Amino acid sequence: MAVKEAWGSRIGLILAMAGNAVGLGNFLRFPVKAVQNGGGEFIIPYLVCFFVMGLPLLFVEWGMGRYGGKFGDHSTPFILNNMTKKNFWKYFGVFGIFTNFGVIAYYTYIESWTLAYVFESIKGTFVGMDIQAVGNFFNEYVDIKSDGSIFNWPMKAIIFFTITLAINIYILSKGLSGGIEKAAKIAMPLLLVFGLFLAIRGLTLGKTGECVGCDSNVALAFIWEPSLNGLWNFKTWLEAAGQVFFTLSVGMGTIQCYASYIRSKDDIALNAVSAGFMNEFVEIVLGASIVIPIAVGYLGMDWVMENAGFMMAFKTMPFLFDNWGATLGIAAGVMWFGLLFFAGVTSSLAMGTPWMGFMEHEFDWSRKKAAFVFGCIVFVLAIPPIVLFQQGVFDEYDYWSGTVSLVVFALAEVIIFGWVFGIDKAWHEVTHGADIKIPIIFKFFIKWVTPLFISVVFIGALIKPNGDQWADAWNSFSSGNGWIFDNGSILNQIFRFNTPSSELKWFVEGSPTSLFFVDMSRLLLTLTFLFVCYLVFIASKKRKNKIPVEHK
Ligand code: PHE
Repeated sequence: MAVKEAWGSRIGLILAMAGNAVGLGNFLRFPVKAVQNGGGEFIIPYLVCFFVMGLPLLFVEWGMGRYGGKFGDHSTPFILNNMTKKNFWKYFGVFGIFTNFGVIAYYTYIESWTLAYVFESIKGTFVGMDIQAVGNFFNEYVDIKSDGSIFNWPMKAIIFFTITLAINIYILSKGLSGGIEKAAKIAMPLLLVFGLFLAIRGLTLGKTGECVGCDSNVALAFIWEPSLNGLWNFKTWLEAAGQVFFTLSVGMGTIQCYASYIRSKDDIALNAVSAGFMNEFVEIVLGASIVIPIAVGYLGMDWVMENAGFMMAFKTMPFLFDNWGATLGIAAGVMWFGLLFFAGVTSSLAMGTPWMGFMEHEFDWSRKKAAFVFGCIVFVLAIPPIVLFQQGVFDEYDYWSGTVSLVVFALAEVIIFGWVFGIDKAWHEVTHGADIKIPIIFKFFIKWVTPLFISVVFIGALIKPNGDQWADAWNSFSSGNGWIFDNGSILNQIFRFNTPSSELKWFVEGSPTSLFFVDMSRLLLTLTFLFVCYLVFIASKKRKNKIPVEHK
């Protein structure tokens, strides 16, 4: 019989949930998105998305999770199944397991770089290196080649990846209170201390005299001074919504899984709000005060605008820390990569739990077996993004599993919760046992605003016009010349309207093209999805032969 899991304490649960949400997204993705979308222009759409979509989705997912837990359901397929009468809904729940496979495969790879960089920082590797050398170090580390060869064989990176994955698997095999909760209790406080230290450096750096505009305050004003100009830019809204999804870990099935181990009488409202706001503090205050201000302090705003990307964390930061002298530079490097590692681990652990919950409770697997098999699958799925790093496979995983799937699943669950399950029952699920009074407006949000909002985001992503020129695309469409799709729109990604058919080739002169690898990674992700569907199908057959849990 599968082990009975439970959280050890309330503070442990909140830290684990905050650890789930606080991740690489807070320190690497948020600041970059903010800069790319006009700084202060980003912040208002971001906050609106947080309140009308993020927070309601947190309530929905916590509510669904605790509800499912009452019936012994710990993963989204059967949580959804129990909330509805029709059989097919549970297949939407497949997203809540599948997405985690797709995301963890590349996420743990980045996480493993941070671990390697902790060691490199301690060794003093970056002391005295110029910015070029630090960048080259990274390229060598992941084996980026400029000679046109297809494969990357980063031996050291593969070793660190294996170690990182093993750490994750080990902690998962220790269960919730003995593994994840313990890890969060160590990682989260350290992360906060390291983050505060670096944020204070970013906030107090000021003018460094390295260049004319080298002043960290310029960056802080740019990010934090709200501006209304972004409100009419649809792209800013899409990006803000995407960031809210990613940073809160909604639409993934991990929150439902964590919440399914809460007792049915216990509070979820205050818990959800605490973990959610802790994430926002780390994102808006700490996340915004480190990479960008420090980089602007030494390299200026123009440089940052041109080079903003999550690679800055690895290619630029070690060089910047070196300005603080060898000792402080090394300490800052250890703290920076240490905090990224802690942020990463507590998130990748979360991505393991839906599978664990599913296999333990549907197939009576032991924790060890579930964790070990999870590790094997993730290892296989991670090989393509690692060895085909330069072929666009990494981005493909991020696009389908880390972006599109989250939105599809969130839309499905909020409709199921507010409409199929029914808003009155749903509201009761969210509020009973609550230690705070949730404003009634959230009931209205959950039923109307959130699903509409997500629908608009989803439709926007489907048909996003070229360069976000909605008016141009509309003019072209209404004058009979067809809609002009952006390359990144979902429909163009699927149908490839923008690529001339002469370029749609898997092989050119006998060697595979990037298109081939992109399509193969799509195939692999699709097979993973179908594999989870199959498991759900088997599990429901098994259930039919069993006495329902609640009558046991
Ligand atoms: N929220 C995490 C981050 O900000 C990523 C994540 C997504 C974690 C989904 C768990 C589940 O990095």
